[in-house]
Amino acid sequence: MSSKNKNISKSYWLDSTPGTNYPILKEDFDTDILIVGGGLAGLSCAYLLQKEGFKITVLEADRICQGASGHTTAKITSQHGLIYNKIKNSLGEELAQQYAQANEKAIYEIEKIIRENNIECDYKKQSAYIFTQQDKYINKIEDEVDTASSLGIKASYVDKLPLPLPIKAAVKFDNQAQFHPRKYVLSLAQIMENKVKIFEKSRAVGIEEENNKYIVITEEGYKIRTNKVIIATQYPFYNKQGMYFTRLYPKRSYIIGIYANEKYPGGMYINAEDPTRSLRQQDTKDGELILVVGSNHTTGQSPNTNIHYEELEEFAKHIFTIKDIPYRWSTQDYDTPDGIPYIGYFTSNTPNLYVATGFQKWGMTNSMVAAMIIKDLIVKGESPWQDVYNPSRKNIISSAKSFIIENLKVAEHLIDGKISPLPKEINLNTDEAKVVKIKGERIGAYKDANGKIHLVNTTCTHMGCELNWNSAEKSWDCPCHGSRFTYTGEIIEGPAVKPLKFTDDVNTIEKLLKEDF
Ligand code: FES
Repeated sequence: MSSKNKNISKSYWLDSTPGTNYPILKEDFDTDILIVGGGLAGLSCAYLLQKEGFKITVLEADRICQGASGHTTAKITSQHGLIYNKIKNSLGEELAQQYAQANEKAIYEIEKIIRENNIECDYKKQSAYIFTQQDKYINKIEDEVDTASSLGIKASYVDKLPLPLPIKAAVKFDNQAQFHPRKYVLSLAQIMENKVKIFEKSRAVGIEEENNKYIVITEEGYKIRTNKVIIATQYPFYNKQGMYFTRLYPKRSYIIGIYANEKYPGGMYINAEDPTRSLRQQDTKDGELILVVGSNHTTGQSPNTNIHYEELEEFAKHIFTIKDIPYRWSTQDYDTPDGIPYIGYFTSNTPNLYVATGFQKWGMTNSMVAAMIIKDLIVKGESPWQDVYNPSRKNIISSAKSFIIENLKVAEHLIDGKISPLPKEINLNTDEAKVVKIKGERIGAYKDANGKIHLVNTTCTHMGCELNWNSAEKSWDCPCHGSRFTYTGEIIEGPAVKPLKFTDDVNTIEKLLKEDF
């Protein structure tokens, strides 16, 4: 990497906006609708529902817009990979039409909110391209152009990009856009300040039902009594219904932000094949930052995560002369077996419990789609797009089964391979981590830059899978449902709601194993 800060993960979106300081929940109270999750999806739901006159409360486990929404590429597009032909072939034209209409409407609605509220968020219209550099994808690109056009999207076939990158074919969508996601979300929160209560550092850990109401319980034991709950966390923290843990698969991807000698020609790009390569530009006070994105993999299943930043740098060098790489960060989102998010009723038997998850890394329009669908379900009892996004849609559980079995096989293999049966002494280099077995327990050990060793119990507190080390982000990551923890055991992202057991006293490890782990 060219930057002096090559080992520091830093999102441009977070670095260029102020932090937030909404209060921590410290009392029980009642609300009409409780939204769990203060990212783009949660706050978009809050925005549309407060306009309908509901008393809304948002509960965020950390700070708003710091998770996926603070680490996204922030393309506002209905172009979600080669999805339209896939939906048409697997689910039929009507549902493909619903998906297209919902996402085109989402682009329109985001622009409308920005315009009506004069939100300064670097909003810019762009064309979006899916390109291929392989012959075998040319037919797929042609089919996507035909299907997307037949569904009313302004799609066209091109064989050249504005970028100096040789391609075989591409599909271009007009009237797409990009923005600064945190400028947008922080403004939304401010606009709603007098109408929506936002609590930060207030983690929801449980939901109970009582007299036709829900009671959501926080980590501190406070209770919020509410008529309706919207779970807009990336992954639903509520496990008791819906079997989401069998049908959501965590995927990580990587971003580098580069300054180059060449001017960026405009447009947003992603390839059709693996490994993923994606590009967009962002104006900053220091010039034109080019975001180079990709190298997706299942969370907890990449033996060397640092290598993904190097792969992106290599790719960027084929197009630009890199001057500096001031930013690099990674992000996580969840895939579903059929490639379509779950938005709507949490289960078919929960008319007052809603979910929005599984955005497949297309969170900007899908967040707005979630807000539109859930608002309609609450206000009118139906939405024109509810069927395609229905979390209880037919065949989803059976297609999930084979996917999760494959996933777990890989995870087991990696876990076995990484265990080092070391005895009392833990030999580590600086900035190195290992999984060691002591007295039959699996312990994760990390030696920091000052030579201090930090030990955690690597059994995930969500459902008991074994964690793997992520060298790029210095975190313990779960291959099953994507929970991530710092090397001192704190939760970085759920679904886990409890930290890992932790000690940094190597001398008392055996005693601690018995008493604490
Ligand atoms: Fe579910 Fe770890 S996130 S077991």
